Amino acid sequence: MNVLLIGSGGREHAMSWKLAASPLLTKLYAAPGNPGIAEDAEIVPLKVEDHAAVIAFAKEKKIDLVVVGPEAPLTAGLADALLAAKIKVFGPQKIPATLEGSKSFTKRLCAEHNIPTAGFIETKDRAEARAYIERHGAPIVLKADGLHAGKGVIVAMTKEEALMAVDQVFAMSGEAPVVIEEFLEGEEASYFCFVHGEQVLPLASAQDHKRVFDNDQGPNTGGMGAYSPAPVFTKEIERIVLEKIVHPTARALAKAGTPYSGVLYIGLMITKDGPKLIEYNVRFGDPECQVLMPRMKDDLLTLMLATANGELDKSSVRWRDEVAITVVFANKGYPGAYKSGAEIRGIEKANEIEGVTVFHAGTKSDGNKIVSNGGRVLNVTALGKSVTEARERAYKAIALIDWPEGFYRSDIGWRAIAREKAK
Ligand code: AMP
Ligand code: GLY
Repeated sequence: MNVLLIGSGGREHAMSWKLAASPLLTKLYAAPGNPGIAEDAEIVPLKVEDHAAVIAFAKEKKIDLVVVGPEAPLTAGLADALLAAKIKVFGPQKIPATLEGSKSFTKRLCAEHNIPTAGFIETKDRAEARAYIERHGAPIVLKADGLHAGKGVIVAMTKEEALMAVDQVFAMSGEAPVVIEEFLEGEEASYFCFVHGEQVLPLASAQDHKRVFDNDQGPNTGGMGAYSPAPVFTKEIERIVLEKIVHPTARALAKAGTPYSGVLYIGLMITKDGPKLIEYNVRFGDPECQVLMPRMKDDLLTLMLATANGELDKSSVRWRDEVAITVVFANKGYPGAYKSGAEIRGIEKANEIEGVTVFHAGTKSDGNKIVSNGGRVLNVTALGKSVTEARERAYKAIALIDWPEGFYRSDIGWRAIAREKAK
């Protein structure tokens, strides 16, 4: 098969690494790609926003499957355009991608189908929003509609903070309604399923670390590290999530004539009353994908093709018993302003540590040097018999990378390690 992978982050490098190992693969192309992805794929200068150009390329190179990594091309309708041109695609069309693109769309779906989630209102009226906050008090959560790279959600710990955030969230939401919802207490976990129409193939769980500094301090980021599986996500919780959240969602979209096809990211809060949906994403997590791919025993391309073809009822997937952890090596200043372009040395040495794979997230080639080119720059990933062992390997590897302009959290996996120690 000839495959075109869309995207340029650590998530897409993890996918290209796994796709490159597929016995079905003839040739992998990637756009826009990065120097890590370039080890697995031919990088092609395609403008992903230009659907006609992507279609023309796919026809010329006889692409059998287009794999879309990030959400933006999906909410922009790239999958619809490809399917209309009779090109197979891994990733949902525009309407089902609204699960990520619109908070109110997802909350309404939850309300209609009794899917467990935080109690909420959706409103276009600032006065109504303020009255709801006055009535419910804090902590409380405000969510702007649309894609905001994780910045559209405000978790307000006081009523004053919530009231102050109203104008900002309404401004971000534009014409679409704002969601204001109950604060959920518990431990977060994410879960991933391949979905096609009403068919669901459960994958695995993971947990990421959203705050920038150790001990979960500082502002939210796209994720500073992750591990898989998430011990809090037990078999019993998985059963409930499939029955009460994933299947009703897949069924509802299929019945509405807008079936989902692709990977569904289920963001959960495991509360004392059971799992509740926080959010859906219509793609793999970044950096969660980086810990799922090394654990997947079966062939990713076979499974992505089965997803696109609607053959998930005939598919199965196995996972290694080992756990995986990834530590994000980020640019100093991230998630705020930072400088790109500093040289990074020692990636090969880090890759030599047993069980370790370094994924490129925000790098660029400069002659024969690798330089930083983004906020989250490398994802140092390790497998191990336990989280403790995987973590030791990942930190041993990251210490071999010479990049003084970077920083990382030193406590990735702390919840799981505390659980291992308590055993
Ligand atoms: P979202 O973009 O909806 O995933 O929200 C971003 C982050 O905000 C989540 O990963 C949670 O850490 C937090 N969050 C969102 N909704 C809630 C909620 N109802 N209760 C507690 N925390 C939340
Ligand atoms: N790591 C969180 C996300 O990909 O949305």
